[in-house]
Amino acid sequence: MNETANIALGIDIGGTGIKGALVDLKTGALVSDRFRLDTPRPALPAAVADTVVAVAAHFDFAGPVGVAFPGVVLDGVVHTAANLHPDWIGASLAELVGSRLSGPSVFLNDADAAGLAEARFGAAKGVSGVVLLVTLGTGIGTAMISDGQLVPNSEFGHLELDGLDAETYAAASARKRNNHTWEEWAGHAEHYLKYLERLVWPKLFVLGGGITKNPELWLHYLKPRTPIVLATNINNAGIIGAAAAAAQTQQAG
Ligand code: BGC
Repeated sequence: MNETANIALGIDIGGTGIKGALVDLKTGALVSDRFRLDTPRPALPAAVADTVVAVAAHFDFAGPVGVAFPGVVLDGVVHTAANLHPDWIGASLAELVGSRLSGPSVFLNDADAAGLAEARFGAAKGVSGVVLLVTLGTGIGTAMISDGQLVPNSEFGHLELDGLDAETYAAASARKRNNHTWEEWAGHAEHYLKYLERLVWPKLFVLGGGITKNPELWLHYLKPRTPIVLATNINNAGIIGAAAAAAQTQQAG
């Protein structure tokens, strides 16, 4: 890896905020402030792209940039956007954002970015076999890691469970929407994790997303056969993983 690839800018597009920071790629540590702007509403492609570019401009950085997006991203093009805006489907992040950045850029799913961060610097570091990272927030994001390598766009948050889209049943937002107690919600989350483990047989679940800020309220209710750990980089995993992906791509190219 060359010197310039030792630091990359990671940007995480979320439903409420778009956050960025410079990341040291040897340690995974943030080496700048974390800059955040509100996600525009409605979250239309042009407006969101302007905000991502504004976040990037804050850092005045010409090196590699990774951008995490809450939907399927293939070759810089968005294919799903369950919790953002349907106009994103078919939009090219590479054109809308990449063409306006000074450095090389890469675009990936937000849960995949979090999975990369955990595999490289966090709770899944050094774990062999299959690790499944599951982010429980507004939606459910998943990242499948096999021997440290990401298998992108797994999207297990949209498996059908008891006739429902899994994320409407077990995401953190489902608890609030249904006015469930923590125990009731944890029952749903456990049902979902047990379903996942019957399909994938992971060695480890890494749980992330907003809900992992208060694990004492619910973690003890979850008893799948697979061991569970919490993500190390709850707030910044998307930023760190996006930055790591950017550097990887530059290295490959
Ligand atoms: C999307 C995923 C995303 C997750 C978390 C889901 O609705 O389909 O792509 O990773 O939300 O943002």
